[in-house]
Amino acid sequence: MRGRVGLFNCRMQDNTVQIVAPEEFGVTAVNLLESVLVERPNALVVLPTGNTPLPLYAELRRRKVGAMRVAMLDDYYDAASLTTNSYHWLRREVLDSLNIGDERVLRIPTAPGNLPAACAEYESALARAGGCDLIFLGLGPNGHIGFNEPGSAVDSRTRMVTLSEATADANADYWQGAYRPRAAVTMGMGTILEARRVCLLVRGRNKSTALRAALEGPEAPDVPASFLRRARELTVIADRACLK
Ligand code: GLP
Repeated sequence: MRGRVGLFNCRMQDNTVQIVAPEEFGVTAVNLLESVLVERPNALVVLPTGNTPLPLYAELRRRKVGAMRVAMLDDYYDAASLTTNSYHWLRREVLDSLNIGDERVLRIPTAPGNLPAACAEYESALARAGGCDLIFLGLGPNGHIGFNEPGSAVDSRTRMVTLSEATADANADYWQGAYRPRAAVTMGMGTILEARRVCLLVRGRNKSTALRAALEGPEAPDVPASFLRRARELTVIADRACLK
C-alpha cells in the first residue's frame, strides 16, 4: 500500500509513508535507491547497520546494485581496534558483495586523539563529495537515529556520543555479547537533515511506539526521529507489524 501520510496524523508536506508486506520490504527500498541512481549513477548513499536493513541488503546483493558511493552513518568509538564494528558489518553484509572498494567509502572517524577535528573534517568530506543523495536509517526503539540518542539536538553534527544502556545492550546482541560498546561516533541530526532524501526503514512490532512518536508526537530532542519530518524529502518504509 502506498499513500500520503494520511495513515499518520502528522505535519508532513511531500513525504511518503509506504506500508509494505514483509516480503516487499527490501524490494521497495531498492526501488527507491534505483530511482536515485537513475538521476545520479554515483550517488552518495548512507547505509546503516542493524537488523532492519537486512532485506534491503539481500535485495541489493540479488540485483547487484553497486554503482553508488557509500558514506557511513555511525561506528563505535575507536573502531579500528575492533573487529566488531559497523565498518566490518557493512563490508560483510553489503560492500564486499557489491564490490564497493574503500575508494568509494567515506568512513566516519572514530580514532582517539583529536576527534572533534576529525568529525569536522568528515562533514567537510561529505560536502566535497557533493552531499548525501540518500540516507537510509533504522529506528531505535527509544527513537534514536544512528547513534543520536534522546537529547540530541536538531542541529547536532557528527560527534562522539555516549550510548544509553538499552542501545549498548542492543548492540551487544549483534555480536552475541562478545562486545558491548559504550561510546560511538554518529552523523548528527543536522548532518542527516541536509541529505537530499532520507528513507527511514522500520520493521517489527517493537518499533511501533517509536514510529508513532516519530511521526505523530511533538518534534523534540527526546525523540530524535521526530526531527526527520524536517527532511527535504522523507520516505518511511514500514512493515505492517509497526502499525500494531
Ligand atoms: C543501532 C544503530 C542504528 C540502528 C538501530 C536499530 O544502534 N546505530 O543505526 O538503526 O540501532 O537497529 P535494528 O535495525 O537492529 O533494530
